Amino acid sequence: MTINESNLNRFRAMHRESEKYININPIQRGGIVPEKTKRVLDEWINGYSVCDFCEGILDCIKSPPVYEFVHKVLPEFLDVDAVRLTDGARESKFIVMHSISKPEDTVLVDQNAHYTSFVAAERAGLRIEEVPNSGYPEFMIDADRYAEKIDEVKPRLVIVTYPDGNYGNLIDVQEIGKICSEKEIPFLVNCAYSIGRMPISAKKLNADFIVGSGHKSMAASGPIGILGVKEEWEEIIFRKSEKFGNKEVELLGCGPRGLPIISLMTSFPYVVDRVKKWNEEVEKTRYFIKRIENISGIKQLGERPTRHDLNFIESKIFYEISQRHKKGRFFLYNELKKKGIVGIKPGLTKNFKISTYQLKKDEINKVIDAFEEISNL
Ligand SMILES: Cc1ncc(COP(=O)(O)O)c(C=O)c1O
Repeated sequence: MTINESNLNRFRAMHRESEKYININPIQRGGIVPEKTKRVLDEWINGYSVCDFCEGILDCIKSPPVYEFVHKVLPEFLDVDAVRLTDGARESKFIVMHSISKPEDTVLVDQNAHYTSFVAAERAGLRIEEVPNSGYPEFMIDADRYAEKIDEVKPRLVIVTYPDGNYGNLIDVQEIGKICSEKEIPFLVNCAYSIGRMPISAKKLNADFIVGSGHKSMAASGPIGILGVKEEWEEIIFRKSEKFGNKEVELLGCGPRGLPIISLMTSFPYVVDRVKKWNEEVEKTRYFIKRIENISGIKQLGERPTRHDLNFIESKIFYEISQRHKKGRFFLYNELKKKGIVGIKPGLTKNFKISTYQLKKDEINKVIDAFEEISNL
């Protein structure tokens, strides 16, 4: 492709088609930026806008109040000793793995772990061992299996995904943290789907490290991640450059800048508020699940009753319809889109993930009605 005016015009006039749809894709529901935040962002859109009054350490900038946010507010919000911002949950996990281990060490993860835990471990040169889940239909991970596997593989780091990104299972992370602390193994909790949605205390979870994702669960534009660290690890994780004494090596000198951090900060009051209403979200989800399970051939897998907005749905009925529908396995995606709903991957019918997080009751009812109508095709 050559760069000419007509090609460039395609970039000038980009529109987001999905804006007018109800989006039930779990990875997108917690990253919707509220209107109040959007109004502030314009002023900060220039590349290094946050750096106007930087004296050399980004997380110590006083105007805008980055220092207060990173060093006072977030540690209190997460009940953790120290926090840094990163480019995402995956970067936070990589930073921990890279700082505390040496190549060929083992990291122990749950079988439901997100692919980024595996890729981060690969990048850090680590071996990966998994704690198996209980299989169909709940896919739960048992704390005792962690204990056994720790004794067997002697990991350098233990990771738990809380909740996991497939089933939304909230496993007994406190117990696993207790086991890790008794066995003196550092313990990281991946809270990409929980920090910013539900109350999280690193101390209560017995975590050495907690990891969050601004664009997934904290109403931020991103890319931005959270890394919370227990005091005893601060020196290792936040070690400084030998040559540039105020720059932290793992952050490559500075954490995220510009819109990612400004949107995270501006949305934060809204996030604090919504976390207080987490129980209402769970109630809404249970209502949704109950209603769609009235359709014969639809079943929620994973922990029951669900305790998270992300859920894994088994839908035999949609699979059956796909076998005779002229659009084949793309029928579900097409039919939902016709009804103003997106977020289930094109081609999926047998199983899919779904979230109703922050949807209004009438929007949830619209999704339920759509499922009911489609099941009658
Ligand atoms: C459980 C889980 N962890 C981590 C991630 C990655 O988050 P990030 O994009 O902030 O690296 C995801 C993204 O889908 C996820 O579902």
